[in-house]
Amino acid sequence: MKSALYRLLLTAYCLLPTAIYAEGSPSALEKEIEAARNPMAWDLGPETVDISNYPPPVQEAYKVFAVKCGRCHGLARPLNAPFATAEEWNTYVNKMMRKPGSGITPNEGKQVFDFLVHDSRVRKLSNPEAWNKHIDQLLASFQAKYGKGKETR
Ligand code: HEC
Repeated sequence: MKSALYRLLLTAYCLLPTAIYAEGSPSALEKEIEAARNPMAWDLGPETVDISNYPPPVQEAYKVFAVKCGRCHGLARPLNAPFATAEEWNTYVNKMMRKPGSGITPNEGKQVFDFLVHDSRVRKLSNPEAWNKHIDQLLASFQAKYGKGKETR
């Protein structure tokens, strides 16, 4: 009993520097979160989307999207980004999944992809004129705020 406790304390003591080191040096995920802080024009759009008319499986997929894609930046970034086609979302969901510490499984990535493709069809591709106007407004607001003609600072 006594020696078990001693071993436990010894282990804890030996692990202490590791814990302090981990605390002091940013993890791969923290570095990504830091990088994601650099503002983008898409961040200035709405953070929410009305999914009440989406099919139930897409509503389920939204839940995965909301948890997994809001860890490093806000949901406004993917929701207002100009990407809309399956091809574009395939590229960007894969890009985000590959980021160190993203914690997105292939199955979750597929659900996020399904949500974004459906949502983009409804909100973006169905009315390209209105959507392009929205994008132009975000770019103008971004420029007014940061004084540059780009979508990222
Ligand atoms: C590990 C942190 C992290 C997670 C998780 C994450 N992102 Fe990102 N995201 C970033 C960073 C950092 C950027 C800034 C540009 C870059 O580094 O790619 C970014 C940029 C973007 C952009 C702008 C396009 C670009 O690449 O410049 C979109 C769209 C996007 N993310 C969508 C998503 C989606 C969809 C998910 C969920 C599948 C997601 N992100 C999850 C870190 C993350």
